[in-house]
Amino acid sequence: MALLETKGLSMTFGGLRAVAGFDYILEEGELAGLIGPNGAGKTTVFNMISGLLAPTSGHIYYAGEEITRLPAHEVTKRGMARTFQNIRLFSQLTALENVMIAFHRHVKYGYARAFLHLNIGREEEEIRESAYRLLEEVGLAERAHQIAHNLPYGEQRRLEIARALATRPKLLLLDEPAAGMNIQETARLKTFIQEIHDRYNLTILVIEHDMSLVMGVCRRITVLDYGMKIAEGTPDEIRSNPRVIEAYLGEETADVAN
Ligand SMILES: Nc1ncnc2c1ncn2[C@@H]1O[C@H](COP(=O)(O)OP(=O)(O)OP(=O)(O)O)[C@@H](O)[C@H]1O
Ligand SMILES: [Mg+2]
Repeated sequence: MALLETKGLSMTFGGLRAVAGFDYILEEGELAGLIGPNGAGKTTVFNMISGLLAPTSGHIYYAGEEITRLPAHEVTKRGMARTFQNIRLFSQLTALENVMIAFHRHVKYGYARAFLHLNIGREEEEIRESAYRLLEEVGLAERAHQIAHNLPYGEQRRLEIARALATRPKLLLLDEPAAGMNIQETARLKTFIQEIHDRYNLTILVIEHDMSLVMGVCRRITVLDYGMKIAEGTPDEIRSNPRVIEAYLGEETADVAN
């Protein structure tokens, strides 16, 4: 069954067609990739699907329901979570506090610390325990009381994913999770994505420039170029697709043929 479907999804910024008529189907349980050169429209697709941007035209269906133009918190409520290309954490709070806040979807960034102090009592204890358990599950329990900002980059990314998992999503959208990571961190991330996919029965769509990661974990890859889908297939099919190779020619960040 399709968990996510887009039909004719389009976004125009001023005169720029960032995404043009994107038709896409993501089956429940898939671990799929979305790639394309810089500026191809990948993040814009995520922004529309997750309710941060209202599409100029087209439709989005999630779990059998049309969600086009629903605000982000309504989309979250239906079981979708995402991470961002630029890490979004409460950098001055601990890893544990970051996850605790994620259990409450409506806390504004500026009020995070005040919220933690106000929300004392039994409910807070339960949230603290759940947050700690989640940190254990993602291998960050030892970091629970460290300030997010001081964690190694790879662990900040992992913490961001843990925050996304706190809402217990069915669908997880990851926007360039390996960005800025070194080779070892990327290799660990690859295993981690596979693990959470299996353990939580998650459907995952990942945007990534790191070809070792995307070709290594995704069974199916979709390629965007200038806002349009130019290819879709298995990693092997994508690697040898002439249109894809052409789109990536001159790109420094990725070498799709390797
Ligand atoms: N809010 C916005 N306002 C105006 N233009 C935008 C906005 N967001 C994205 N764009 C433009 O839309 C196009 C697609 O951008 P998008 O961020 O979706 O690309 P991307 O595929 O995620 O690229 P990258 O790999 O560099 O992250 C780009 O030309 C970008 O400059
Ligand atoms: Mg992007």
